[in-house]
Amino acid sequence: MIIKSVDLETVCGITSTLPENTKPEFAFAGKSNVGKSSLINALMNRKSFARTSSQPGKTQTINFYNINDAFYYVDLPGYGYAKVALEVKAKWGKMIENYLHKSPMLQCVFLLIDIRHEPSVNDKTMYDWIVYQGYQPVIIATKLDKLKRSQVQKAIKTVRTGLGIGSDVTVIPFSAETKQGRDEIWELISDYANS
Ligand code: GTP
Ligand code: MG
Repeated sequence: MIIKSVDLETVCGITSTLPENTKPEFAFAGKSNVGKSSLINALMNRKSFARTSSQPGKTQTINFYNINDAFYYVDLPGYGYAKVALEVKAKWGKMIENYLHKSPMLQCVFLLIDIRHEPSVNDKTMYDWIVYQGYQPVIIATKLDKLKRSQVQKAIKTVRTGLGIGSDVTVIPFSAETKQGRDEIWELISDYANS
């Protein structure tokens, strides 16, 4: 995919109203620190346009990145970040829920899972919630570079079993370091954006 322009067009906090975009949207969900913002940077061909951090809880708003004036990447706040007060967590949950529920332009939700770990209860809940909202999630197994090649198949199986998904659900192993998997994700996005 050729990235001609990227623009952080809208940032939504807990009290903001969501934008009424008229171009397709692609959302990235997953627990804190799983690599959502890093993936979005890779998909924008930018090193650090979206802010990333080794400390979980970096993205605390819903960020809409306008790409080529053609579609949006939507960076969602991560869940499962222990240090956030329960009240704030509940508000983020509502915010994400509201977004998934009410966005007519949302084409596809990517759910990111760290390839090294078994999906958590939160991951499973998020998966079920995305399905409940009428979307077929695409799973991105992140941080692929952290595994030896011989460990990958087993790790993907663990992700599949943990989420309870069958072969009809796409799982794409991805690394923000090597960019492995990026073309496959771009292809999916192009298909949706042009259909
Ligand atoms: P929140 O905004 O807190 O929800 O986190 P996030 O999901 O946006 O994660 P972020 O992209 O900020 O990445 C978290 C940390 O993981 C950073 O230190 C990244 O450099 C690192 N990271 C992300 N993706 C990869 C990857 O594919 N490989 C490796 N080795 N590190 C990664
Ligand atoms: Mg982030």
